Amino acid sequence: MLLRRCAGKVVPFLFRNISTTIRLSAEDLFVHRDSSDNNAQTPFEFTEPNMARIAALVQNYPAGAQRSVLGAALDIVQRQIGWVPISAMHKVAEILSIPRVRVYEWATFYTMVKRRFRGKYHVKVCITTPCMIRGSDIILRAAEEATCCSVGGLSPDKMFGVDTVECQGACVNAPMFVVDDDYYEDVNVCDVYNIIKAIKAGQIPPIGPQ
Ligand code: FES
Repeated sequence: MLLRRCAGKVVPFLFRNISTTIRLSAEDLFVHRDSSDNNAQTPFEFTEPNMARIAALVQNYPAGAQRSVLGAALDIVQRQIGWVPISAMHKVAEILSIPRVRVYEWATFYTMVKRRFRGKYHVKVCITTPCMIRGSDIILRAAEEATCCSVGGLSPDKMFGVDTVECQGACVNAPMFVVDDDYYEDVNVCDVYNIIKAIKAGQIPPIGPQ
């Protein structure tokens, strides 16, 4: 046990300043807690076109291997309503005839599954090593400031949600961040402000290396 001297006494060292890394609310990645808008009774039904898409995808796999469509089905949920409530996971399990836990496993492993509403535009800043050594902490702060949104939260107008993510496979152009499906690579602080400003103005900034 580490000890320190306090007012002349030796006491346990309870607070160690090992790192200044911000708290990332990692529990969000794997824990579901029922809320008023995300519980087993939250209304969710696939639209007819989306049901047809899932049925077509199932045909791509051998009989009995319909679980292979799981990732695509969750992606379809997300594109239909913007995020994936637990009731939609249950619907996917029902349609694919697989245990609910298989859907939970998938949805809690992959960070691209938004298990709560993350704003109209979901800003994801990569903080894995190559991006980190190229200044992802500064990029993250700029993203928070430009969107008026703390990591893990929503902006007051619910336009943006900001999260940290692990490697997005664009390390060669680190640091980078993602807005929904669009990659913005090799960014500096000014790029972050300009990209968010353009999105606020209803524009789609040029994607890729900046
Ligand atoms: S570490 Fe950021 S994209 Fe790979």
